[in-house]
Amino acid sequence: MSLGTEKNPLRVAVIGAGPSGFYASEALIRSDLSVEIDLIERLPAPYGLVRSGVAPDHPKLKQAINVYDKIASSNPEFNYIGNVTVGKDITVDELRDTHHALIFTCGAESDRRLNIPGEDLAGSYTATEFVAWYNGHPDYRDRTFDLSHETAVIIGQGNVAADVSRILSKTVDELKNTDISQHALDTLADSKVKNVFVIGRRGPAQAKFTSKELKEFGELADCDAIVDSNELALNAASETELAEKSNAGSKKVYDLFTGYSERELSGKSRRCYFQFLRSPVELSGNGRLEKLTIEHNQLSGDAFKQSARGTGKQYQLDTGILFRSIGYRGIEMPGVPFHDSWGVFPNQNGRITENESIAPQMYAAGWIKRGPSGIIGTNRACAVETVKALIEDAPNINTTESKAGREKVYAILDSRNVRHISYQDWKKIDQIEIERGEPKGKPREKITSVEEMLSLIS
Ligand SMILES: Cc1cc2nc3c(=O)[nH]c(=O)nc-3n(C[C@H](O)[C@H](O)[C@H](O)COP(=O)(O)OP(=O)(O)OC[C@H]3O[C@@H](n4cnc5c(N)ncnc54)[C@H](O)[C@@H]3O)c2cc1C
Ligand SMILES: NC(=O)c1ccc[n+]([C@@H]2O[C@H](COP(=O)([O-])OP(=O)(O)OC[C@H]3O[C@@H](n4cnc5c(N)ncnc54)[C@H](OP(=O)(O)O)[C@@H]3O)[C@@H](O)[C@H]2O)c1
Repeated sequence: MSLGTEKNPLRVAVIGAGPSGFYASEALIRSDLSVEIDLIERLPAPYGLVRSGVAPDHPKLKQAINVYDKIASSNPEFNYIGNVTVGKDITVDELRDTHHALIFTCGAESDRRLNIPGEDLAGSYTATEFVAWYNGHPDYRDRTFDLSHETAVIIGQGNVAADVSRILSKTVDELKNTDISQHALDTLADSKVKNVFVIGRRGPAQAKFTSKELKEFGELADCDAIVDSNELALNAASETELAEKSNAGSKKVYDLFTGYSERELSGKSRRCYFQFLRSPVELSGNGRLEKLTIEHNQLSGDAFKQSARGTGKQYQLDTGILFRSIGYRGIEMPGVPFHDSWGVFPNQNGRITENESIAPQMYAAGWIKRGPSGIIGTNRACAVETVKALIEDAPNINTTESKAGREKVYAILDSRNVRHISYQDWKKIDQIEIERGEPKGKPREKITSVEEMLSLIS
């Protein structure tokens, strides 16, 4: 019986309900084949980093959720299975048995390491955990962040570093009407942080901020953005980089740094310093972070290929708080090949590979496919490429072996007493969050406990 017909739909399990999971589902729905999609998510709440990564003071960027809601609500071939961790509650092999194909869209939930002495001292945190904590991710709700020191350091100059620095630099009044979690707002209200150092290993021409995000630092209510003009000197390769038309974004960022370097201090109580060509080499202190040793760098290499090298010139900065914001990293899943040094599921255009050969039935999209870069929209084209590969492969799928699909998945989960939730269940939780936010003037008050979410729908 041919596959992809109403009588024999192509059954696909999509693993991870972030942007790439929804875009993969959308691409499957738009294909010419009849499909049955089960989007399996380890949390009760869908939307991945759009819910637990995108900064609370950037509500417009969360509007992508409206698109995902439409995909979930208006397509009968789509089914959401929340609160189920693939690799733990159900195995990859079991899903290969129940579905014709699996698309992994499980993101990059861990972080890269600096690999320097003292990295794990108390007071040294990852951006990953801080971001997940202020955004109410259930796994991070019980983390504590000691903001009782005046000086905080952020390592890295990408947009995640911008988010972390901005949240530390804003007043409670600037945050209180966002969907930031109440526990984070309470801790930030008592913050003693006055100086935020945002440190890049390369120069101002190589910072990875986008201009829109950097511009916000010039508009903060009680924090001045500071750049030392001496740090804006460019080598010839960096001048070439900024003169390149296709690199206009970096030029805008550089111009903003120049603007900050020319500003007078306005007497605001916090200061956010952007510093370049420096790398942390050691964190030290008596049981917790007290000093950070920093080395000055110089650039070498051709334009667009410049890398940072230590000059040997070092100094120490007194600080009690450090956030490493140097990129996320994918996590291994039992039953799926993993590229350890890249932190992704190895693949060719979305087809997962094992020892250079295509691994049957398994595909990847989003950050677990490409690595941790790209904005929300980048994941749409990425998922479309993966689904195209899957549809091309569909005629070769062995159809003599029947695939029971979601009914078998539910039977397996029920036999293990795994509580799974539907999209309608999630919408009830969603409504309660919105109602809890209303009296506080917030778009929602996120429920941060899985147990509480489940009790609300039982
Ligand atoms: C802090 C931060 C802020 C950002 N802000 C913006 C922004 O403002 N604008 C913008 O355009 N982009 C932003 N991005 C980038 C954007 O969030 C990513 O491009 C996008 O979320 C990646 O999508 P994804 O689906 O691959 O992964 P994710 O969004 O991480 O989704 C992966 C999903 O898989 C689930 N999952 C993981 N393991 C399993 C498992 N074993 N079983 C079942 N489910 C599993 C996770 O719970 C999660 O829901 C930001 C990124 C970060 C880190
Ligand atoms: N508002 C938004 O649109 C928004 C918000 C947040 C995130 N995002 C997107 O999400 C993606 C991930 O963001 P990200 O900030 O995590 O990653 P990123 O943009 O790749 O930035 C990572 C930063 O860490 C530095 N770094 C890496 N390894 C280092 C090391 N060993 N030592 C010191 N510094 C190191 C990088 O420097 P080098 O350049 O030298 O490697 C870079 O400055 C990006 O595509 C970003 O645009 C978007």
